[in-house]
Amino acid sequence: MNKNRKYLVTAALPYANNFIHIGHIAGAYLPPDIFVRYKRLIGEDVIFISGSDEHGTAIEMASITEKISPREIIDRYHFANQKAFKDLGINFDIYSRTSNKIHHETAQEFFLNIFNKNILIEKTEKQLFSEKENRFLADRFVTGTCPVCGYEEARGDECPNCGSNLSPLELINPRSKITGDIPLVKESTHFYFPLGDFQNDLSDWLNGKKGWKQNVINYCKGWLKAGLRDRAISRDLDWGVKIPLKGYDGKVIYVWFEAPIGYISATKELFIERNEPEKWKDYWQNKDTKLIHFIGKDNIVFHSIIFPAMLMAHGDYILPDNVPANEFMNIGGEKLSKSKGNGILVKDITEKFSPDVIRYTLSSNFPETKDSEFTWKDLQVKNNSELAGILGNFVNRTVVFAKNKFDNKIPDLNKLSPADEVIFNYFKSQSGKLDELYDSFRFREALHNTMDCARAANKYFNDNEPWKSVKTDPEKCGSVIRVCLELCHSIAILINPFLPFTSEKILRILNVTDKDLKWQNIGKTVLVTGNSLGENMILFPQIEDSEIQKLEQQLEDGESVKSAPTHKALPQGIITVEDFKKVSLKVARVIECVPVPKSKKLLKLKLKIGDSEKQIVSGISEYYKPDELIGKLIVVVNNLVPSKLMGVDSDGMLLAAKLNGELRIVTIDGDIETGADVN
Ligand code: 2FM
Ligand code: ZN
Repeated sequence: MNKNRKYLVTAALPYANNFIHIGHIAGAYLPPDIFVRYKRLIGEDVIFISGSDEHGTAIEMASITEKISPREIIDRYHFANQKAFKDLGINFDIYSRTSNKIHHETAQEFFLNIFNKNILIEKTEKQLFSEKENRFLADRFVTGTCPVCGYEEARGDECPNCGSNLSPLELINPRSKITGDIPLVKESTHFYFPLGDFQNDLSDWLNGKKGWKQNVINYCKGWLKAGLRDRAISRDLDWGVKIPLKGYDGKVIYVWFEAPIGYISATKELFIERNEPEKWKDYWQNKDTKLIHFIGKDNIVFHSIIFPAMLMAHGDYILPDNVPANEFMNIGGEKLSKSKGNGILVKDITEKFSPDVIRYTLSSNFPETKDSEFTWKDLQVKNNSELAGILGNFVNRTVVFAKNKFDNKIPDLNKLSPADEVIFNYFKSQSGKLDELYDSFRFREALHNTMDCARAANKYFNDNEPWKSVKTDPEKCGSVIRVCLELCHSIAILINPFLPFTSEKILRILNVTDKDLKWQNIGKTVLVTGNSLGENMILFPQIEDSEIQKLEQQLEDGESVKSAPTHKALPQGIITVEDFKKVSLKVARVIECVPVPKSKKLLKLKLKIGDSEKQIVSGISEYYKPDELIGKLIVVVNNLVPSKLMGVDSDGMLLAAKLNGELRIVTIDGDIETGADVN
């Protein structure tokens, strides 16, 4: 490990005009999350940046079609996508937004920096103009026939059929996307970035790159071979980052020029939040930082040619170390690219399956070198045969054995037998192999090698037959089970990048904290003899055929591959009955209540809710004495993610009203059984 090295990992900023789908996740979000988690396990200094791309014609277009403001559009998708990432365990250090002030300032500073160096070129050009709408028709505001392939619905910036980069004037029979109006040609002045001037520097820089994926190298070579041309970096639009110069009203910086600068703005914002406002420079202005952009293949040119040229022009920042772009993941033969807006939405799939099952299925099928295919059947097979059959099975049989035969305690391990040495050494050597795979972005293979450890652990269990030795040589049997428990711990480390939720569960089953969750501990003994194990749980419940058949049918009917929502947007702050039903409110009786030590505000309450009991912590001690609460019937939110307040577990939240420094908790009028639903 290089102590000075830092990693600055970015994931493409998705447009906030659509819900994120599993194709996005497999392309640009899960791979960096896995990479970052691995780097953290080996102790590297990493930050992981992403956020919403909130400008551009895609968003303005959605706002016009839905007759709501761009702000409403971006709010809707920004928060939904932020939640979708979180639900899948994609743990950015920051998920920022390009509509934030800091981004506007950073992008404008960037623009001015290169403008002041006379790098930009101003040109007056002919452009399409809609008289009806009184606007220039930029990019997606215009459609027409592609001059390359003849596709009739090509957009002003790109042909979705053949992928050609286009400009609106190149379209045959152009029409306004919104009104169908046939546009006029009018002149407008724009700034251009002279990409061609950077051709040699880019070529040298790219030639010096080692360890880049072949698909990315080939793509870049194609562009360089064709010759780089000036690129317009301003647009006649209302929505976006304003050109920071006098006399340019109604013009904004082109979204693809400012969006990647969003990586810089988001890093600044992250360190402002952390109260270290200068620290972003340690990453962006430090040659020992490895900047790695994770993207889908449709973003290659922007991240490995245009943005690097912009960074060269600016001069104060590092250039990307690698751009490990993925191809696309298909579903039912349809391309899951974001431009088409189809796919299985993360917000839908996470309601049906646990995040680790989704992460596993996608990872084992990452489109790393070519397009890949997602099927529901595959998800079922991966869950039932691999996750449950191999990984879950090993943890379960080990823990059940320890529970039944060793009083749920960790048995002693005397001297390692040759077989013990072999399995521990195998784990260690696998971890070395994995280092190489992670560093070369071969995550599919990494997952396979990770699962080989679980396979080997099962074999160790079988070969050592503890069910026999428990009768003949209990001490030997104890050692075998101890080795298996240690292997469970090593597996919790090994799978952590791919299956972080399961890794955490295994630690809970072993009743240990994450203090030893370090890559260097793979294949080592870390558990303490005699300590009790936690409660066992089934890590991967079976997925039934009937469930999969239903999903396959829905997919065939086009339900799970539906495009972005057609439903009318709700006014801000308004929710549906379904939204409300997600909150489980229950009547609870306070059966114990004590102050939380060293806290001025917190009380710890034990509640009876139906047949179960739970503990919550609430900041109400300024308003209630513990004794006043005992026996009261209150209302709690019963399905909140558990949290810790001052180190004390809290599994829910009570309802209370607060105004002008006074607080009263919500109680029930009269008597009703605890556990009753409140709705
Ligand atoms: O393709 C997209 O969804 C773009 N919004 C990605 C932008 S990545 C970065 F440059 F901001
Ligand atoms: Zn075309």
